[in-house]
Amino acid sequence: MIAIRIAQRGGPEVLQPVDMPAPRPGPREVLIQVAAAGVNRPDLMQREGKYPPPPGASDIPGLEVAGTITACGSGAVRWRVGDQVCALVSGGGYAEYCVVPDVQCLPIPSNVDLVSAAGMPEACFTVWTNVFERGRLRSGESFLVHGGASGIGTTAIQMARAFGARVFATAGTGAKVAACERLGAERAINYKTTDFAPALMSLTGGNGVDVILDMVGGPYFSRNVDLLALEGRLLQIAVLQGAKAEVNLARVLRQRLTITGSTLRARSVDEKGAIADAVENAVWPLVHTGKIRPVVYATFPLQRAAEAHRLMESGSHIGKIVLTV
Ligand SMILES: NC(=O)c1ccc[n+]([C@@H]2O[C@H](COP(=O)([O-])OP(=O)(O)OC[C@H]3O[C@@H](n4cnc5c(N)ncnc54)[C@H](OP(=O)(O)O)[C@@H]3O)[C@@H](O)[C@H]2O)c1
Repeated sequence: MIAIRIAQRGGPEVLQPVDMPAPRPGPREVLIQVAAAGVNRPDLMQREGKYPPPPGASDIPGLEVAGTITACGSGAVRWRVGDQVCALVSGGGYAEYCVVPDVQCLPIPSNVDLVSAAGMPEACFTVWTNVFERGRLRSGESFLVHGGASGIGTTAIQMARAFGARVFATAGTGAKVAACERLGAERAINYKTTDFAPALMSLTGGNGVDVILDMVGGPYFSRNVDLLALEGRLLQIAVLQGAKAEVNLARVLRQRLTITGSTLRARSVDEKGAIADAVENAVWPLVHTGKIRPVVYATFPLQRAAEAHRLMESGSHIGKIVLTV
């Protein structure tokens, strides 16, 4: 099969198509003939040598795929050869074939094509487990996502809105702000022209925001803590602008705040399987009714993965970038 290898750590040019043997499914795994693979920011970090694959994972990049099952390992009983699925994988997605634990596969919603479906697992799993499981976002609460136009952000806006939250977002350009509002944000704020914290404090009538999903970190941390409402929850899923921050702990006590975070890739197969079940039960019905739609900004043939990474690095995309096979 053709796969994209990271020849050495570096820029997009180190992503090279290579010919290599297709993997074989082990117990409770399936082999997927990949139709499309989502590109995620962690793939860029892996390429730069800053996010090594967890033990046992393929060193081929790619955290999500969609395609057709061509073989089932022993004990992989849910799926049959010929089934079309999308899946969260811990590596190996940038390839013509990919193995994945059967519990990490989801059916393709009938109103979603394979290319769009490839961009759904990583964002849906991440938003579900953080915003709804850890963050316990409830209908009627206010929700803020930073990086609202990202792959994660465009999913978070739609999911929070579909579950009845008041949704706010931040983004760095007018076009991104407009996209966030089209997707369901009551108000998106261009953080380059407006200080988001006072703007949101005023939009929430001085109460602050109940749940914040943040990928920026660093300088945002104390501003997020100051913006949270009583019993507010901060979910940290990345630290794009720094892992160190100072916080007013007195505010954490006074407001009875919860500060948490998580990563998805290193979690066990069973944990990922449990998230897959929850996503299929709670989120897939909303995809079927069109309340949540994948937002695909651009597609590139697998062999041109380097161009896909350049686009993501430019930061001009809104939603997902997907590789097609
Ligand atoms: N913890 C987890 O389980 C988990 C899982 C998946 C992804 N993630 C993380 O979630 C984030 C979003 O992933 P994605 O694939 O959706 O990425 P993406 O589409 O490239 O989005 C990144 C967003 O971050 C904003 N941003 C702010 N500061 C930035 C900086 N210094 N460099 C680059 N972007 C910056 C950009 O928005 P503006 O242009 O509006 O600033 C951009 O829309 C990534 O950091 C990723 O590592 C975490």
